[in-house]
Amino acid sequence: AANTVKAQQDDTIAAAIAFARAFHEKDDTGHDWWHIHRVSKMTERLAEAEGADRFVALLAALLHDVADEKLNDSKEIGLQRVRDWLVSQPVAVEDRGHVIEIISTMSYNAGLNPPMRTLEGQVVQDADRLDAIGSIAIARCFLYAGKIGDPIYDPAIKPRDSITKEQYRNEGSTAINHFYEKLLKLKDRINTPSAKIIAEERHRFMEQYVQQFHAEWDGLI
Ligand code: ADP
Ligand code: NI
Repeated sequence: AANTVKAQQDDTIAAAIAFARAFHEKDDTGHDWWHIHRVSKMTERLAEAEGADRFVALLAALLHDVADEKLNDSKEIGLQRVRDWLVSQPVAVEDRGHVIEIISTMSYNAGLNPPMRTLEGQVVQDADRLDAIGSIAIARCFLYAGKIGDPIYDPAIKPRDSITKEQYRNEGSTAINHFYEKLLKLKDRINTPSAKIIAEERHRFMEQYVQQFHAEWDGLI
């Protein structure tokens, strides 16, 4: 029986990959398939290191951005899309509920959401956050800024520690400001020790990058 459960889980993971790939294929908002792919791989690695349930964590990683507000008419409609898909699969009721809980509570939300309840949730959230720290994160940030029409940098727009939608509408932001508003704060919001080690190294790289950016901007180097 253990064997069939494993085989069924592998089938469900394969189906989730196909579903997520099709959903994210045409995305150009930083939630393209390769983001999902990287988060899934990192989730497997962290789940193994931290002793989290691989199936639940991996399923949540693969589906986490199908529910993203930006890619749906609302957060609730996005979550329903994930729920409907899970119901179409042979996933145990408690695993289904667990995956939905993870996806509905893991977003950054200006660092205001409560800590993830389960180890599986912590691992998936860490994997998603790690993709927003480091060299790939720098590329995603500039891509996203370009997409929403923000400049690379503008000395007239002062960087803030965090930014509300209201402030963004009124005063605007820049790709470099996004480092201060979010990216450079992520390393202190990592849950697990395994992810923390990776986050610290990537964080140093980003700090060095912004330092170099400002030095070049000022014509110092
Ligand atoms: P996630 O999928 O990690 O929850 P988001 O939906 O917030 O992230 O954003 C996707 C990517 O785009 C992330 O790498 C994030 O840092 C970047 N991003 C989000 N908002 C902005 C912004 N205002 N300016 C530049 N980059 C952004
Ligand atoms: Ni994501």
